[in-house]
Amino acid sequence: MSMKALPLKYFKEINNWDTVIFIYNAALKEIGTKIDILNDEFQHRHRYNPIEHVKSRLKKPESIVKKLKAHGYDTTIENMVRYVNDIAGIRITCSFTSDIYRIAEMLANQSDLKVIAIKDYIQAPKESGYRSYHMIVAIPIFLSDSVIDTKVEIQIRTVAQDFWATLEHKINYKFEGNAPQYIKEELQECAEMVWHLDERMLRLNEAISQIVESEGEDIS
Ligand code: GTP
Ligand code: MG
Repeated sequence: MSMKALPLKYFKEINNWDTVIFIYNAALKEIGTKIDILNDEFQHRHRYNPIEHVKSRLKKPESIVKKLKAHGYDTTIENMVRYVNDIAGIRITCSFTSDIYRIAEMLANQSDLKVIAIKDYIQAPKESGYRSYHMIVAIPIFLSDSVIDTKVEIQIRTVAQDFWATLEHKINYKFEGNAPQYIKEELQECAEMVWHLDERMLRLNEAISQIVESEGEDIS
């Protein structure tokens, strides 16, 4: 599989490793704050928190090098910035699948945030059974004398999907991607159960909301 170079204007400014860390850390802070504010506003307006938790991370240098090598690129700062879209990553977990799209839309609507790519593994799960909504976005980082568009991978999933993905990741790590067939099948089956569980929980929540609305009170 080839890695697509996503448009990025100012990568020439990022010319050493310390700057890479600094810029991508700044991007994680910016997006993290946006997510916090959205959650606070939602709480303020609807007395409801769509977000359960948020976790951000910078990709380890050895993982970046590994990824570049796997795709046949030399290990240069320019190639990193150009081709590795998940140097900065943020994972948002929420209660219901409906929250996923709500959060994605609220983020996409922010005028300083550019959506570069979307992978909807909720609608089209991976063969493993993996479900999650992925966005690659670019956020401008304002420095004293320049602006640097910086890419961040945002993964949005439900708590149940996160539970599944964490275990599946652990298993794949253990077997270095070659888990026995029966384990793969078991995981696929669990992923289906997670999907049905999420659907039922969503419907339950909608039913509760309707009752609460008709009673004119709030349950939080
Ligand atoms: P990489 O998989 O990171 O090389 O990038 P990609 O360009 O193929 O993007 P993709 O959207 O497939 O995956 C990005 C990230 O999503 C991964 O780094 C994982 O964190 C997560 N992910 C994708 N597929 C799976 C999966 O089958 N299981 C688990 N647990 N996580 C997955
Ligand atoms: Mg992949």
